[in-house]
Amino acid sequence: MPILIRQVLPLTLLYLLMIFSVIVIDYLLHHFKIVWVGRHLGLVGTILVVFSFVYSLRKRRLIKNGSPKQLLLLHEYLAWIGAVLLLVHAGIHFNAILPWLAVYMLLINVASGFVGKYLLRNANQSLAESRRVLLESGSDQEEVEKKLFFDAVTVGAMQHWRVIHLPIAFLFGLLSLLHIITVLMFNR
Ligand code: HEM
Ligand code: HEM
Repeated sequence: MPILIRQVLPLTLLYLLMIFSVIVIDYLLHHFKIVWVGRHLGLVGTILVVFSFVYSLRKRRLIKNGSPKQLLLLHEYLAWIGAVLLLVHAGIHFNAILPWLAVYMLLINVASGFVGKYLLRNANQSLAESRRVLLESGSDQEEVEKKLFFDAVTVGAMQHWRVIHLPIAFLFGLLSLLHIITVLMFNR
């Protein structure tokens, strides 16, 4: 199977699985007549997405513990699950513009997250040579993995990719914040 298909297909399927999960959960909420749960999923989803940013704290050395690679995986999983819950939450109404813009940003950001994951895998592969040299020069395995991880997220295509993922994440955060403030102030 061509590499492109082997790598891109699972990521595309994960994206479709997100949409599918939203439809199933929404159906179940209606079936069991507990649609009100959707209101509270806004809070739960937000908490998951915010918690997924522990990766950023680690990357910027605001916290010192934890494997960056594992924390990035945590970012990806929590953001994915958070997105599912937020999309179910969003399904309850279509009145206000701001939260819907936030939803679009969310959809784009998850998609761009998967693109980043793909690029990062390639960047990692192209650093295989540096890994070999470092290991041969006597550095220990864990140190090499950490060093190369941060190299991988800053080289080549990843650098351009960040121009999409980060500003969209920022817009998503801003629009969500405005929505949450509006809800707190006017209860709607
Ligand atoms: C602390 C987090 C959140 C809380 C407490 C919250 C609360 C609410 C409430 C109470 C409503 C219903 C408003 C009404 O009845 O008119 C609502 C609607 C909505 N929320 Fe949230 N929400 C949160 C986070 C989010 C986030 C992060 C998003 C974006 C992805 C979002 C997207 C939406 C959308 C699209 C609607 C429907 C708006 C409409 O057209 O009326 N919410 N939210
Ligand atoms: C709610 C949706 C998401 C938001 C708001 C979001 C936000 C962010 C932010 C702010 C960063 C920058 C970290 C930093 O430089 O400090 C980041 C990095 C990253 N995200 Fe997401 N993300 C989301 C979903 C995803 C998903 C679903 C994936 C993959 C499946 C993903 C993959 C990545 C990758 C690979 C990085 C790059 C690591 C790096 O540059 O250091 N993201 N994300």
